[in-house]
Amino acid sequence: MNNISNAIRYVGVNDHQVDLFEGQYPVPNGMSYNSYVILDEKVAVLDTVDIHFTEEWLANLAAVLDGRKPDYLVVHHMEPDHSASIAAFLAAYPETTVVATAKALAMMGDFFEGLDLTGRSLPAANGGTLELGAHTLNFVFAPMVHWPEVMFSYESSEKVLFSADAFGKFGALDAPETDWVPEARRYYIGIVGKYGVQVQAVLKKAAGLDIAMICPLHGPVLRGDLSLYLEKYTAWATYQPEEEGVLIAYTSVYGHTRAAAELLAKTLAEKNCKNVVLCDLARTPVSAAVGDAFRYSKLVLATTTYNAGIFPYMREFIDHLTERCFQNRTVGLIENGAWAPMAAKVMREKLAAAKDLTWLETTATIRGGLNEASRAQIAAMAEELAR
Ligand code: FEO
Repeated sequence: MNNISNAIRYVGVNDHQVDLFEGQYPVPNGMSYNSYVILDEKVAVLDTVDIHFTEEWLANLAAVLDGRKPDYLVVHHMEPDHSASIAAFLAAYPETTVVATAKALAMMGDFFEGLDLTGRSLPAANGGTLELGAHTLNFVFAPMVHWPEVMFSYESSEKVLFSADAFGKFGALDAPETDWVPEARRYYIGIVGKYGVQVQAVLKKAAGLDIAMICPLHGPVLRGDLSLYLEKYTAWATYQPEEEGVLIAYTSVYGHTRAAAELLAKTLAEKNCKNVVLCDLARTPVSAAVGDAFRYSKLVLATTTYNAGIFPYMREFIDHLTERCFQNRTVGLIENGAWAPMAAKVMREKLAAAKDLTWLETTATIRGGLNEASRAQIAAMAEELAR
């Protein structure tokens, strides 16, 4: 992995210590913080790494530099998983010029008290270039992908897009290889899902570039046929389902709501519905459940009435969906309530912010356990979902 090409080298690190990335996303296969070096007449280092890996990264860097001094540190993104080692880098290589958007340069002062960049910073312009010799970095601003100061760089001689957080995935690079899509989806929807409009804007800019390779700040370098990655990003950024399917997301206290969810799944299976997925929200990381909600075209929510509202895991799940602009899906509701069922009303109100939802005509109401009436409602829901 050290050599991306003859001139472009990988100097990133793998993190197997982190339990929750960004304080909330479980990463059972760890995380990579990618950093690259371009060796040309001028030497550019692209991004740094998380604070826990500064020494390892500086050692990787020194090995690749082999005695040369970096001319530029290009900072694409100021979130600390990539920027935390800037001060240590500048202490080791004080003559380096820092290249970043004006917003990122301002943030550097906020993150590193007393850091003096006088005479050694170069604000990047949107559409501007940095000549390294045979290699040229072309800057493409990518605001809100995933912070406002972000930019991408396109290296035109080797056709490499350095895409900051975009096209990244969860998982360290020395972990057993997994399919790109599931962990890239969970990463994208969780972290950047709210900013689909901005991602669409930058994808439009990228469409005008001839890209042979994508070098993100997390996860593997992407090369060869890039169409799958672009297709997935287009679906996610435009809030289109990836495929036909039904996610049945439920919470259950004594098993009765789960029984209703399972009955719906079984009925859908009997109708040969594809991709019917049951998800117990109390026992599934919310980021995985949110990923599946964005993946499939239909969503059924089943929960109990609880403290005159809804069960906490369902409340959190719906908040995660609406914060990420969940939209453009078919949605059905199953509520449980022994004496005053109101979960369906609360769920519908909570989803009022979501655009372009098509609601099932049938809502199922369970008063304690399933009975003839609620079974008939589940059957009617299945009928609608299978249409
Ligand atoms: Fe990987 Fe937004 O930082």
